[in-house]
Amino acid sequence: MSNLTFTMIKPDAVEKNYIGGILKMINDAGFRIHAMKFTQLSKEAAGKFYEVHKERPFYGELVDYMSSGPIVAAVLIKENAVADFRTLIGATDPTKAAEGTIRKIYAQSIAANAVHGSDSDENAGIEASFFFSSLERF
Ligand code: CMP
Repeated sequence: MSNLTFTMIKPDAVEKNYIGGILKMINDAGFRIHAMKFTQLSKEAAGKFYEVHKERPFYGELVDYMSSGPIVAAVLIKENAVADFRTLIGATDPTKAAEGTIRKIYAQSIAANAVHGSDSDENAGIEASFFFSSLERF
């Protein structure tokens, strides 16, 4: 079990000025920020990041959407980080997300679902390295 997870605050949540509210929920849940940047993915970078979903029917929409505006990328530290963060953000589809979760409060739809959270320790490591060098982690 690793103590690290990776998140993005997605273009819909940035556009609606929810960065502060989402970061407060993350901090209040006990996560420490290990790395963070405000950036925009190119289509190529979004395609590479979500390559595992390449065969899914929503892949093209996902890549277009995730490159459509700025995002906040961050690596978070906490004991049991991957599982605890997925509990904090709620189900992928915000209509199915539990009350009080980040997606229930801030997400619009299954595509524009406010935040990303790693689904395994292995992917957390891969995703963190996709965005951050060792010099950008504290
Ligand atoms: P995320 O946690 O970033 O991981 C993959 C993303 O694909 C997911 O959040 C959703 O935003 C998106 N996604 C999953 N299922 C669908 C779907 N049926 N239609 C559109 N986007 C989807």
